[in-house]
Parts: sequence; C-alpha cells; structure tokens
Amino acid sequence: MASDQQKKAAAEAALSHLQHANIVGIGTGSTVNFFIDALTSIKGSIDAVVSSSEASTERLRRHGFEVRELNAVDEIPVYVDGADEINRYLQMIKGGGGALTREKIIAAVSRRFICIADASKRVDVLGGFPLPVEVIPMARSYVAREMVKLGGWPALREGFATDNGNLILDVRNLQIMEPSHMEQTINNIPGVVTVGIFALRPADMLLLGTDQGVETLTA
Ligand code: A5P
Repeated sequence: MASDQQKKAAAEAALSHLQHANIVGIGTGSTVNFFIDALTSIKGSIDAVVSSSEASTERLRRHGFEVRELNAVDEIPVYVDGADEINRYLQMIKGGGGALTREKIIAAVSRRFICIADASKRVDVLGGFPLPVEVIPMARSYVAREMVKLGGWPALREGFATDNGNLILDVRNLQIMEPSHMEQTINNIPGVVTVGIFALRPADMLLLGTDQGVETLTA
C-alpha cells in the first residue's frame, strides 16, 4: 500500500476514536490533511476545532469548521496529529512541517493525543529523521553550537519561518536513546522555543497505517 493510502486509512480510523468530542485539536501535515477531509463527515457533532498551524486553519475554514482560539477553550478532549517518527513508547519526533511549538502546546492541553501515521514513521530509536528545533532568530548560531556539543549536525531550514516568526534548525546525527532527557536538555538552551521531541507528553494512541490494515497501539 502506498504511503498516502496508509495515511488516509489511519486518518479515517481516527474518526471512531473521537468519542463524541465537542472540541477537537487538529495537528499539521499531510496525514492530518486526510483527517480534516474525513472529519467533514461528522461535522455536525463537533462544536469547534483548535488548530496548530495557519495551514490547517485555512483547510479547516475551507471545510466550514469553526476554528477557535486556544485561549477560548478550557479543555480539548482529543487531539489528532501526525508524526515524523514514533517509537514503541509513542514518543515522537515532530516538526517536519515546522508547526512543532503550537502542536506541543495543544498536546499539553489535550486529554487524549491520537497519533495517525503511515508505517514508515515507526522506528526503534528516534533520531533518523533530522530533529527540528524552533529558535529565536538572534540565538540561531548559539543554539547551533550547543547542538554540535550534543553530537548533532545542525542545518538552518533555508527560506523558512515558523507561524511564530522564528527559525528552524534541523539537527542530524542524533541517536536519541533517552528522549525525555534529551527533550529537557535541548529545551533548556536559551533561545530554544521548542524542540521537536515529544517524549514528556507522548501520544496516548497510535493508529498506524500498514499494508495489513490499521494497527492500534496504546502507551
Ligand atoms: C508538522 O510540523 C509535523 O509535526 C507533522 O505532524 C509531521 O511532520 C507529520 O507530517 P506528515 O503527516 O506530512 O508526514
């Protein structure tokens, strides 16, 4: 099965896990785009959505969803998002689309986090995918030097600014054996807004599209 079909199957499977959530948190990326399209079939049961990026907001509005500011909601019952890599503990690398900071905020506010992904995203050890780090522009070089001290090879994502007006360093050559520790270490570097490791708040459920169908994994 092509990866797009796997993404679509995982996205559609998420519909049956919303459990009548009136507010749904929406991630960012090609897998989430399939989810947004699928969500239109149950639009009547959803009061509003909270979006993690301008790109998702635009797609959601086009489909007629009410997109609510995070500050206007007390709680998000369920958040659905993709991943660039995910391990057996449902810890992830995210941020390939550059939306990691808003994604991490929404994940923190949400009661349940459902990750939807194609089979290529499942890994034993995080770090094969270049680790995105959102940085304040004036700290770019400093943070890059700190990443080298951790054994990484940072590269500025050329011609890219996040929805928050910041830059992304993509860091190669990291074998992330202790994701929670690495997440804290990088987040503590002055100038770092967010690192794309989601280990302290992993997903609660993974819906993985495979050639054999959609596998469900829970933490
Ligand atoms: C967006 O910044 C990312 O965190 C995405 O969730 C991740 O890159 C997955 O994207 P795809 O669904 O396009 O693979």
